[in-house]
Amino acid sequence: MKVIEKLGLGALHRLDPETAHGLSIKALKAGLVPLPGPITSPRLWTQVAGLDLPNPVGLAAGFDKNAEALAPLARSGFGFIEVGAATPRPQPGNPRPRLFRLTEDRAAINRFGFNNEGMEAIAARLAKRPRDAVIGLNLGANKDSTDRPGDFARVLEHCAAHLDFATVNVSSPNTEKLRDLQGRAALTALLSGVIETRDALDRPIPVFLKIAPDLNEAEIGDIAAVARDTGIDAVIATNTTLSREGLRSAHKGETGGLSGAPLFEKSTRVLARLSVLMQGEIPLIGVGGVSSAEDAYAKIRAGASAVQFYTAMVYGGLSLAGEIARGLDALLARDGFASVAEAVGTGREDWL
Ligand SMILES: Cc1cc2nc3c(=O)[nH]c(=O)nc-3n(C[C@H](O)[C@H](O)[C@H](O)COP(=O)(O)O)c2cc1C
Repeated sequence: MKVIEKLGLGALHRLDPETAHGLSIKALKAGLVPLPGPITSPRLWTQVAGLDLPNPVGLAAGFDKNAEALAPLARSGFGFIEVGAATPRPQPGNPRPRLFRLTEDRAAINRFGFNNEGMEAIAARLAKRPRDAVIGLNLGANKDSTDRPGDFARVLEHCAAHLDFATVNVSSPNTEKLRDLQGRAALTALLSGVIETRDALDRPIPVFLKIAPDLNEAEIGDIAAVARDTGIDAVIATNTTLSREGLRSAHKGETGGLSGAPLFEKSTRVLARLSVLMQGEIPLIGVGGVSSAEDAYAKIRAGASAVQFYTAMVYGGLSLAGEIARGLDALLARDGFASVAEAVGTGREDWL
């Protein structure tokens, strides 16, 4: 991390976390954040669900909910970017405060509840996106919707022309009963509808499914079966957790989803379990608590074809994207892997 970034983070951490986040997005848009441009190498270049990624380190959903900073994010060193969640209609989300730093735990708790400007405003920004980046959209459902499964298909249909991929997010803990859509019957119906919408697009794009970390083995088994049966293109494991195990920070009792370092082990175990069940049929994207090249490498060795992160940036700044990608390249070289793909799943047993 550069000195200037350290000073910036120090100042931001004296503010309420949501205000600080808003300022980070503004600083990015204003060109105040130094950006490295694309980071790639023959070892880092990889393909996931037909997408060409310059490197396998992606930005997780929720950082740029309204697709406001696409151009700077495209030059931030991430190999791919997921914006959103977008819902059909704009909605304010839960009352503030709704984002908490757990500094001693290198973690965060949020209960935003899909605050976003809605698919029309977001699609208008996506239409002006840079073409030389891989950009996807996290799909959500309106809190007061009478047809939540239909909401995912509506957002997909409206925004797909400007996207490289879309993610069905049924794993946010902050919209009541959303996670019920992860059950076998409900998930099959929902994903079949979304895939049907996707197949009818002029330019069909890959559709991913993002799951929660708080699932037991039987539930993970059901999800693997549904993913296979419905033709989902990749599974993202995982979203935030409801668990509060081992936390020390003052805000540990806040309601919401926990992200960051304490999520690493739990999300990596779900990833490794899925990797065994999928046997390489469907690629996996590992997210949860990644804050270093070593963490990204561990996720890949546990079965992920690519990784994403968000919370570590609160503590390490945006330059972490490039640091993790370059560090990953060095770790692959150290262990004699010629590519990311060669390393996928080679350390799975450690997590089972
Ligand atoms: C403030 C905040 C907002 C988030 N919003 C979303 C969202 O809209 N959709 C989603 O699928 N995940 C969302 N997430 C979850 C992240 O994408 C990611 O799955 C999770 O934070 C674990 O990764 P991390 O430990 O690297 O942060 C959000 C996370 C945070 C911290």
